[in-house]
Amino acid sequence: MTTRETGVPLLEKKILAASFVFIALPLALIAVSVYKLGQRVPTCAPLAPFTKAEVIQHAPDRYEVHMLARMWEFEPKVVKVPKGATVDFYIVSEDVSHGFYVSGTNVNLTALPNVVNYGQARFDRAGSFRVMCNEYCGLNHARMNAVIEVTESGETPKSAQ
Ligand code: CUA
Repeated sequence: MTTRETGVPLLEKKILAASFVFIALPLALIAVSVYKLGQRVPTCAPLAPFTKAEVIQHAPDRYEVHMLARMWEFEPKVVKVPKGATVDFYIVSEDVSHGFYVSGTNVNLTALPNVVNYGQARFDRAGSFRVMCNEYCGLNHARMNAVIEVTESGETPKSAQ
């Protein structure tokens, strides 16, 4: 009887300790991803829906992209930024719901009419990052794409429409 009485509280202590770990570990990982890795959660932007696609350069390594989605293309089709650039993506749709996924980044947004959605990515290596529509939007959904061209530092980036 005595062993049972002393054994049960020990098991409870272990379960209690494990439950604290299961709560504390995800919170610690969230804290690391936000404060150490600088991850930001995609969000709706407090910005009026725009009708003009543009790439705005705020600093040598800081860009803002206003992306338009429509059946079945993105505008601009090509965005060129230098290696190391941080890019703020704002996206709005001109017609139906589209997806906006930038491969190799955590930018995965929904493009909606009359709503501006926002995501941020930092491009630390040169190369082509494919942008895909990942929400079915009609006949040519599979062909709806664009590209983020990340150039080696020193080259002058220029975006094409
Ligand atoms: Cu646009 Cu699928």
